[in-house]
Amino acid sequence: MADKPTFYITTPIYYPSGKLHIGNSYTTIASDAVARYKRSNGYDVFFLTGTDEHGLKIEDKAKANGLEPQAYVDKMAKGIKELWKTLEISNDKFIRTTDKEHVVAVQKIFERLIKQGDIYLGDYEGWYSEDDEEYFTETQLAEVYHDDNGKVIGGKAPSGHEVTLVKEESYFFKMSKYADWLLDFYHNNPNFIQPNTRMNEMINNFIKPGLEDLAVSRTTFNWGVPVESNPKHVVYVWIDALLNYITALGYTSDDEGLFNKFWPADVQMVGKEIVRFHSIYWPIVLHALGVQPPKELFAHGWLLMKDGKMSKSKGNVIYPETLVERYGLDAVRYYLLRAMPFGNDGSFTPEDFVDRLNYDLANDLGNLLNRTVAMINKYEGGQLPAFKPGVTAFDADLEKTATEVVANYRDLMDQMHFADALSEIWKLVSRTNKYIDETEPWKLAKDDSKAEELAAVMAHLAASLRVIATLISPVMTHAPKEIFTQLGMDPATISLIDLKLADLPAGKQVVASGTPIFPRIDVQEEVDFIQGQMTKSDKTKGRAAMAAKAAAQQAAAIEADDGKPEIDFSKFEKIELRVAQITAVDHVKGADKLLKFQLDVGDLGDRQILSGVAEVYPNPDELVNKKVMIVANLKPRKMRGEVSEGMLLSSGHKLVIVPDTLVNGSTVE
Ligand code: MSP
Repeated sequence: MADKPTFYITTPIYYPSGKLHIGNSYTTIASDAVARYKRSNGYDVFFLTGTDEHGLKIEDKAKANGLEPQAYVDKMAKGIKELWKTLEISNDKFIRTTDKEHVVAVQKIFERLIKQGDIYLGDYEGWYSEDDEEYFTETQLAEVYHDDNGKVIGGKAPSGHEVTLVKEESYFFKMSKYADWLLDFYHNNPNFIQPNTRMNEMINNFIKPGLEDLAVSRTTFNWGVPVESNPKHVVYVWIDALLNYITALGYTSDDEGLFNKFWPADVQMVGKEIVRFHSIYWPIVLHALGVQPPKELFAHGWLLMKDGKMSKSKGNVIYPETLVERYGLDAVRYYLLRAMPFGNDGSFTPEDFVDRLNYDLANDLGNLLNRTVAMINKYEGGQLPAFKPGVTAFDADLEKTATEVVANYRDLMDQMHFADALSEIWKLVSRTNKYIDETEPWKLAKDDSKAEELAAVMAHLAASLRVIATLISPVMTHAPKEIFTQLGMDPATISLIDLKLADLPAGKQVVASGTPIFPRIDVQEEVDFIQGQMTKSDKTKGRAAMAAKAAAQQAAAIEADDGKPEIDFSKFEKIELRVAQITAVDHVKGADKLLKFQLDVGDLGDRQILSGVAEVYPNPDELVNKKVMIVANLKPRKMRGEVSEGMLLSSGHKLVIVPDTLVNGSTVE
């Protein structure tokens, strides 16, 4: 058997200086989705993540916590490992820059670079931002402070963080020597940085103006890798950190097997703020070592909150554990990848999060599974019929959509356009839901001569769900297995290799599960909950309250002016209107205005809905057998101790009666 193709993907290694939030988790989840996607396609994958534990920032943090740096990073790294476990990150290795093997390798590499003249000793004078762990010249600063004599005494880095003047003996790396090589490398590898617009940014802002040699050691603190031949210096934290990508594979150790197998990395995932380190310093250092640069750097945008970047001081930080505990891991992983458009910033809003859960997951996907399993049980005795293409008039179009979606999804996932890949999958989800409305299986079931068509429809539904579950399996770690299990198929057989609608295994026994895979949630309650999780300072609380008041006033003004505010189609589309037939009507005790209706809603089954129309119908029995319209996806609520599962459409308390020819359960558009 031929060897599997290899694939190496890395995340940045995280500073263990605070609890990681959903922004950091985005990078790791996105990388995990790629790793899972490649594995499912038959690749031999190595997926690396870890922690960047040295530097002044960490040393100060440890002090502030009353701990020795090592004890502090041990504690923090443990927390990060636990988080990745909670998020079911499938990394093959977790590297810590305090790992002995890494430290030894960094020392060896540094000595080698000194020996070959790429690193030399000199004096550094310039500005250092501890928060960014980055050096700046005076002209690079975003703001400078002067004393009375006009001398610069401080300032701010472009990130807004304070800088301090550093004057010390330092080792330097001869970046300038490699500027032309780097430009050639970019020229020959135009897709090295994705999205490739970022390459021009690097060329114009940093390389063309003249690449300066980089200070690569510090003498004013100790928390770092000591330079072996001159231990009063510790290696600059970024050099130490970047090298993790090769030391993790055993580079310079006695066993370079993994390095030989997996380097150069296929994808290195980074946030946009650290592209410069990865696209300039990193390839140059590798080149100086005679090692190939990675094949691709993927720079993603930031996940922003309503009021900008996530930060504790703004009080808008959301931690993934909170969301996972309440809404499940699949919902969180799905949302994060769906919310971040390729190359741009994405935004997290509680409203959007709750909407996606309710519409994409509970309604579109969850209902599709429930309806399919219920119908296969009812019409086929629970057995998956054999897949036959082109039996009903609607099969060909569903088959075509499935083929197109699989192909487009592959293209998009290969380019790591996660949000688009997910919306591609949802095209198939919607198409399959529509297929149920078109084929009307409940009608076919009433006619014995249509048994073959009915079986074909059931097989198409199951086949489509099998494809959908497989496509989402790199992103969701639970639902695909649950879908396979409910359809009687072995979750261990989930594989993207040669995925086709027609490969549905026939004869499996479906298993209905009592609980929906994605329960619908209450919008207001959950938005309030998530908002409550963002610990706000009093100041921001006040501001948020004021903004909310202003928004409410504006909404009231619109309402007073012309009835209801305008909504766009996507909002309207979320309302599920269905035809239902009244099978019985009763009065509700103690409620003069309410009638209690029993309804047949076709494939959705029987429902009870309460409606305030009693005064108009003194003889409610006359309504029996009439067909009406209902809002089917309204959250059930209790009225006078009775459950009402939806709403009947009415005008002036009179029900909207629809023609008898409409089919029970059919959708209204
Ligand atoms: N330690 C360095 C990386 C060294 S890699 C050799 C570092 N660490 S970090 O913890 O500050 O950030 C790591 C990564 O977290 C960022 O590059 C980015 O990928 C991710 N994110 C942090 N905040 C984020 C958002 N708000 N949104 C998306 N990603 C975010 O930099």
